[in-house]
Amino acid sequence: MADNLIEVKNIKKYFRLDKGKLNRASARYLHAVDHVSFNIKKGEIFGIIGESGSGKSTIGRCIIKLLDIDSGEVYYDGKKISDLSPKDIKPYRKNMQMIFQNPLASFNPKKTIGQIFREIAKVYKIPSDVAEKKIHELVEYINLTDDVLTRLPKELSGGQLQRLAIARALLVEPEFILADEPVSALDVSVQAQILNLMIDLKKEKGQTILFISHDLTVVRHVCDKVAVVYLGVIVEMGPTEEVYKHVYHPYTQALIAAKPKEHPLEVKEHELLEGEIPSAVNVKEGCRFRERCPRFREGLCSERTPKLKKIGNDHYVACHYPLISD
Ligand SMILES: Nc1ncnc2c1ncn2[C@@H]1O[C@H](COP(=O)(O)OP(=O)(O)OP(=O)(O)O)[C@@H](O)[C@H]1O
Ligand SMILES: [Mg+2]
Repeated sequence: MADNLIEVKNIKKYFRLDKGKLNRASARYLHAVDHVSFNIKKGEIFGIIGESGSGKSTIGRCIIKLLDIDSGEVYYDGKKISDLSPKDIKPYRKNMQMIFQNPLASFNPKKTIGQIFREIAKVYKIPSDVAEKKIHELVEYINLTDDVLTRLPKELSGGQLQRLAIARALLVEPEFILADEPVSALDVSVQAQILNLMIDLKKEKGQTILFISHDLTVVRHVCDKVAVVYLGVIVEMGPTEEVYKHVYHPYTQALIAAKPKEHPLEVKEHELLEGEIPSAVNVKEGCRFRERCPRFREGLCSERTPKLKKIGNDHYVACHYPLISD
């Protein structure tokens, strides 16, 4: 039995922008994910953090094959799944469930929660008496009562719906859950309930979760490990506490140093970073963070792309001048 449930090896995903043009040589590509590698151990919550547009969702979608990768490999429990056909990936679908950012958009608005749950049970051939029992147990597990089953999605709050989205994912007992910004659309008071539910899932069921977020506080609270992404590449990765205590990459440092928002309209992410996140179109050799990096030096930083290298215990950084070098 493999120790890792998910292994991501050197995956690349470029989006072609000017699709109408025939000349491939002059085509513009958005380098959404570039040579990304990491492993997720069974029973672990692995976090991916980074600014908007850094490629977090694309990485997640490539893993569960909602998107095809251009190169690299993805393994699921030791089996290569990245080159499976849509038909051959089907048996894996049940084991890889997803929770989205906006719970309302992820439920069919015309059906009651009960109908939605029962249809899923039917698709996965769960006998109806078993399904009824399971649905009841799950509703209880997420601290709601059976009356939610007769309601339409719009008749529930965002927090209730997101808990139901988790219950819906659990209905088929998946081994792996991809949670893409599961609390970003929720009120702060409700966020804690969802996060604690995810922690309980790990503790009680040994659930393996890929948790995508742009919120460092949330990631620190929930994740065992974290990968920090910037413009499609991992710049730092390691056990969450270790990364928070010994920051090596200037980008991670800037993210951690950014103080919490005091006003909803305040732009938090860019506070300590110079300028906006640059474009990932036709990226050239060199460090992608160079335009905004306080440690930028001519030469290496603009000429060579830093590789992700081991710098501490299970801790990796991609920087020519990491913070310890002072
Ligand atoms: N189908 C697509 N076609 C073209 N470009 C895309 C497509 N999907 C994503 N992108 C681009 O790829 C980059 C990464 O997008 P992605 O959605 O992975 O970012 P993200 O880190 O999840 O951002 P956010 O925090 O806003 O959700 C962005 O520049 C985005 O515009
Ligand atoms: Mg996203």
